[in-house]
Amino acid sequence: MLKWWQRGAIYQIYPRSFCDADGDGVGDLPGVLSRLDHLVDLGVAALWLSPFYRSPMADFGYDVSDYTDVAPVFGTLADFDDLLAAAHERGLKVVLDWVPNHTSDQHPWFQDRQRRRRWYVWRAEPNGWQAQFRRGGPAWAPDPDGAGDVYLHSFLPEQPDLDWDEPEVEAAMHDVLRFWLQRGVDGFRMDVVYRIAKDPALGENELHRRHDQDWDTMQARLAGIRGVLEEHGDDRLAVGELHLPTQADVARYVNWPAGLHLAHNFHFLELPWSAAAFRHGLTEFYDLLEAPAWPAWCLNNHDYSRLASRHGEHAVRPAAMLLSTLRGTPFLFQGEELGLRDVPIPPERVVDVDGRDPQRAPLPWAPPAQAGPGAGFTTGEPWLPMTPDATQVNAATQAADPRSVLTLYRRLLALRREQEDLHSGAIAFLDQPEDADVLAYRRGDDHVIALNFSPDPRPVAWPDGANVVLSTHLDREAGAAAPANLRGGEGVVARLS
Ligand code: NOJ
Repeated sequence: MLKWWQRGAIYQIYPRSFCDADGDGVGDLPGVLSRLDHLVDLGVAALWLSPFYRSPMADFGYDVSDYTDVAPVFGTLADFDDLLAAAHERGLKVVLDWVPNHTSDQHPWFQDRQRRRRWYVWRAEPNGWQAQFRRGGPAWAPDPDGAGDVYLHSFLPEQPDLDWDEPEVEAAMHDVLRFWLQRGVDGFRMDVVYRIAKDPALGENELHRRHDQDWDTMQARLAGIRGVLEEHGDDRLAVGELHLPTQADVARYVNWPAGLHLAHNFHFLELPWSAAAFRHGLTEFYDLLEAPAWPAWCLNNHDYSRLASRHGEHAVRPAAMLLSTLRGTPFLFQGEELGLRDVPIPPERVVDVDGRDPQRAPLPWAPPAQAGPGAGFTTGEPWLPMTPDATQVNAATQAADPRSVLTLYRRLLALRREQEDLHSGAIAFLDQPEDADVLAYRRGDDHVIALNFSPDPRPVAWPDGANVVLSTHLDREAGAAAPANLRGGEGVVARLS
């Protein structure tokens, strides 16, 4: 019996940019509640909320100053409870974003650093570890009290790393999970979870061995986390963000018996849009998984340039079909279901430290001609510019258009729910003519999917008896013989008779 997180798709909400209910230009939890029916109509099983906790917002919520309260700009705990109840009423699960590796420098634990020294990572002087983000540089900052020591920050100096080798830290972070589990949440996306295990000796990184992440203690740490989730039954999800060098590294985390249920594997966000590259990468990952480990797939999130901009318009529809027909859980990032592109940000409106504003621009809900310049996202001035394409690219217009990208996602996710082959069936890749730019695979007994990665027409070698179920272009007759040529950027789900 598959779990809910295996059968259904999971939709990422970046709360600042989803929907603004109070007109201050920043999305909020009541705004999310007001748009839940969009998710029901889309047909996802769950939503994952990027952080909405109290935060000075140096990294827009990934710098948490109180793990168990809501930032006023997003609402209140009561708003959260209302949202959770409304989601559950509609049969939607709710996954929170847990940020275990670092707090904000404004968190009371760091403020209390004189007494809680052991909760953070200190050294007399920096080693060679480097911080992430474009500004990079040493991952060490001077003790704000001038004690002469330096503290570790794998990201911004405003995000000091917790020391998970300190048992009190582990216990406190487990209690954060319990706080939300008791409120009824269905799981957690775990921010940079591979970083909560570091070499306690703080040794220098080596060519083939990082000492600042993915250390030997990792497996036991995950088992501890799983134990907390299992205090609340066996249905709560642990999905981890894993930026690791190889797919074999990612697979380890889901192959461990008490590891993650799902892993975000970023290999496919780094690949060129090529059928051969995807076939190679997918085959590699499927082969690395040991049953009952289950794959998950994502092609967008709030840290990456959107697929429509990264690879071009012709990739949008086949990507939708790929994500919804692979064996494994699809993750969508808000706006992906509209084919939204990165939004150009003029220099004076740049707010992110790492160039990620274009993919975080607000979601267009309705045409500006009807809803005003905020396009149904806000009645105020949006915190980031609205897409200039909002007249065509908005949820209301696309919902009314039987051939839109939104309609395609709805049809695909419905098909995936209905057809056992598509949510549960085995996958087998099918050979295609050399250099065809076509990725083709069989799902279960009866379904075959062929995707043209090229913007130009390409031939497909179908198995005998393949008939159209659904084309990405939403204009082929169901039941007709599967086409010998796919149009540029076309994909077809076919059924074998
Ligand atoms: C990964 C998150 O996805 C990203 O947005 C954030 O900046 C870093 N982790 C640090 O928390």
